[in-house]
Amino acid sequence: MSAIINDIEIIKAKTTKINEVDFDNLTFGKVFSDHMLECDFKNGSWQAPKIVPYQGITLDPSAKIFHYGQSVFEGMKAYKDANEDVWLFRPLENFKRLNISSKRLAIPELPESYFMEGLKALLEVDKNWIPTKEGSSLYIRPFVFASGKGFHASPADEYKFIICTAPSGAYFSGKVKVLIEETYSRSANGGVGFAKAGGNYAGQFYPTQLAVEKGYQQVIWTDDTNHEYIEEAGAMNIFVRINNTLVTGPTSDRILDGITRKSIIELAKAEGIPVEVRKISVKEVVEAAKNGSLKEMFGAGTAAVISPISGFGYKDADYDLPEIADSYGSKLKKIITDIQTNKSEDPFGWRFKV
Ligand code: COI
Repeated sequence: MSAIINDIEIIKAKTTKINEVDFDNLTFGKVFSDHMLECDFKNGSWQAPKIVPYQGITLDPSAKIFHYGQSVFEGMKAYKDANEDVWLFRPLENFKRLNISSKRLAIPELPESYFMEGLKALLEVDKNWIPTKEGSSLYIRPFVFASGKGFHASPADEYKFIICTAPSGAYFSGKVKVLIEETYSRSANGGVGFAKAGGNYAGQFYPTQLAVEKGYQQVIWTDDTNHEYIEEAGAMNIFVRINNTLVTGPTSDRILDGITRKSIIELAKAEGIPVEVRKISVKEVVEAAKNGSLKEMFGAGTAAVISPISGFGYKDADYDLPEIADSYGSKLKKIITDIQTNKSEDPFGWRFKV
């Protein structure tokens, strides 16, 4: 069956998989809803997006994504409230960042209407897939990659933009213990660290495996020059609380401009929490852990929202963080998720009705 929503052609799946899904026990990003958006770039322009049944895609073995890694993505979430209204959180920020990432990887930028209208149409078609249980959401993965052929190391002439969605529960099940990285780097000056390029994540897997072998779950990335400053936590931005001040590093060409990160900075300020955006040295964090002024650390990102850190390892020593009654992380997580799920006022205008 074919239909048009917001001028977008929709080819409906013949059957639904929704009855196979246990919405009470969702994990993260493992089951996928019935439809996806697909849009091709060819002959120098983006073609009309379409919604099609969720399905495999066929690519030529010489497609440049396989050889040169031209690929960028975004992470977003949709929520459904008690009135069945569907909400997104600052979706234009994701759209803008996707194009910022694309530009750095020499991928053609997308028109805003293809992203926004396409996403809205997809959510309309798969509205039933948006979970309502607390802590769950429909995780949305927009991505663009080089489908054009050839072994020449130069930008492809064809690309695909796809959005697929996955009803999901929490990204992490509890607190994480992290290792401050002293050897490997996630990003470098002049590199692609600020972009959501697929390769940025692939490059993390091996150092993270080494950290897991030592008993940690994630790596705290440090600057590539001297491993002197903490920059990100796994695939998230990082915040530390020293006494009563919340501190996070400034964005740069090495640090992702996280949407959760910038929302937390604004929220914390509105809550009267002292916030500093400045470089945080490993030395400062270790000394604060030793003298008791390091009260908490947490990662922030779309998938994990706010992920508390239970302690960190550095140079063969472990530092545990105390349980804290007035955790900023817990407080800010509640405020942000209440805004996202339409359970509270949204004084910032971040919530977006689909
Ligand atoms: C997100 O937080 O949405 C991300 O894109 C990170 C990813 C590794 C899950």
